[in-house]
Amino acid sequence: MTYAITPAIPAGTLSASAQPSIPSHDGALLLRPWEAEDAPVLQRAFQDPAIRRWHTHHVNAPEEARDWIASSHRSWQREQAVQWVIAWADGEPLGRMALRWMDLLHGLAECAYWVLPHARGAGVASRALATLTSWALDEAGFHRLELAHAVDNEVSCRVATKSGFALEGTRRGAHLQLDGWHDMHLHARVQGDA
Ligand SMILES: CC(C)(COP(=O)(O)OP(=O)(O)OC[C@H]1O[C@@H](n2cnc3c(N)ncnc32)[C@H](O)[C@@H]1OP(=O)(O)O)[C@@H](O)C(=O)NCCC(=O)NCCS
Repeated sequence: MTYAITPAIPAGTLSASAQPSIPSHDGALLLRPWEAEDAPVLQRAFQDPAIRRWHTHHVNAPEEARDWIASSHRSWQREQAVQWVIAWADGEPLGRMALRWMDLLHGLAECAYWVLPHARGAGVASRALATLTSWALDEAGFHRLELAHAVDNEVSCRVATKSGFALEGTRRGAHLQLDGWHDMHLHARVQGDA
């Protein structure tokens, strides 16, 4: 099969290098790859009711946390997804930022995140999303980043709009969660957006 278009990001471009660690613009935060020693934090995060509520995959046991971290490294190698720890500059974990469903041919991917309860309300998610967005659109070569959240998740909606992800519409009954089917807001940022 021959592509009729030039891929936005040629296959092999990302995985040719190690997954990058990316400082936030103000230097306070660092997006860094997950390490085996982050497993207890990952497992603890999934004891939080809000993180459990809005995610369909839970991490309930130490071996699940270790598997999740190992699979995040494989996802980078396969150019399918990128998972970062959101950390203070000294490395202390605060949350998770991800690019998933990566489609390199079309330069598309979806952002996802959570922040540990004690770190919320301090601009961690917004700054981490801005950091990811700069890397993805300005350096990695993605063309369009999507972000979907349940319509009821008003805080996530605020993170998205504050970070320049315009609301494009509502996908009806698009996501099955613990309490049933949810309508989802679709937000996106496209290369060249202000
Ligand atoms: C959604 C989440 C990632 C936000 O993380 P955060 O670091 O607290 O977000 P920020 O501090 O960057 O806040 C972003 C905006 O939301 C607002 N906000 C934060 N917490 C809020 C709350 N509980 N109620 C209302 N607004 C809130 C902030 O005030 C800020 O808006 P502002 O700049 O206009 O004041 C975090 O609450 C979380 O992990 N929730 C559980 C998991 C989840 O919902 N993940 C997203 C799934 S789509």
